Amino acid sequence: MNGSNVEINWEAARTANLQNWDDRVPLHEAAYGLDAFDDPNHLSDVVSDDLPVLDRFATGGSLSGLDLCHLQCHIGTDTISLARAGARVTGVDFSEPALRAAAALAERTGVAATWVHTDVLDARNAVSGDFDVVYTSIGTICWLKDLDRWAAQIVALLRPGGTFFIRDGHPALLALDEDAEGFATRYSYFGDGRAQQWDDESTYAGDGTVAHSRTYEWPHPLSEILGALLRAGLRLVHFDEGRTLPWRFSPRMVEVPRGYAWPEAERNLIPCTFTIVARKD
Ligand SMILES: C[S@@+](CC[C@H](N)C(=O)[O-])C[C@H]1O[C@@H](n2cnc3c(N)ncnc32)[C@H](O)[C@@H]1O
Repeated sequence: MNGSNVEINWEAARTANLQNWDDRVPLHEAAYGLDAFDDPNHLSDVVSDDLPVLDRFATGGSLSGLDLCHLQCHIGTDTISLARAGARVTGVDFSEPALRAAAALAERTGVAATWVHTDVLDARNAVSGDFDVVYTSIGTICWLKDLDRWAAQIVALLRPGGTFFIRDGHPALLALDEDAEGFATRYSYFGDGRAQQWDDESTYAGDGTVAHSRTYEWPHPLSEILGALLRAGLRLVHFDEGRTLPWRFSPRMVEVPRGYAWPEAERNLIPCTFTIVARKD
């Protein structure tokens, strides 16, 4: 059954996930609206949502002139948007086709960027230099088993005084049954080391299908996410919860500007996203 908890080692799960992400690249290149990036002022919806908070906590009040490392950059739409907001960007991903697509989009749009092929959990060894900002957003830590190792990469990539930003699906939302008529829990909120196994030929953008349909995800409660960042030595400077999401988690969600949300009358019942900003002292 989709979302059931299984015992699988990290390498096997990671290989399945990588094959699935590689397959999604051409589908997302067709469905992400890349032509819009020909307009030099165009920003992705994700970065448009994140930018006010990023600017507020970035040294100097904007990304202008800052070195930014984007973890799990996928096909580069958010990375290019961060460059357009003024940052010198490095995008990191474990999918070579995703990075090729990102590099092609950067070249086509005349945006300077560095692309690094590595597992995010090995990012410190693979990426040169250090950064004022480490950024990751929307569809990120569910693909990782070990958040302590993830947080260690972030701290090691940041300069003293540097800022870490993450916005992602709220773990309370991700515990809900996406197909239920109302709100009902279905998946684990707390993890127990096992992975959730999914079989799904579709992806969240476009109508195409993938050849490698099996994936593995790990649930991470807020306590685990915050705990990993704090244990690694970061200081929490901002925490927020949002009522909208860039992907349609449930068929009951309705379209809103830059994404989806529960019907108006239910919008205050449960958060859709969390945002954390943390600093390296
Ligand atoms: C949902 S996408 C990133 C979201 C981004 N907001 C977007 O839509 O472009 C997730 C990305 O994580 C990458 N990824 C998954 N597991 C990874 C890992 N262990 N190391 C590095 N990248 C990984 C995938 O290749 C994919 O590009």
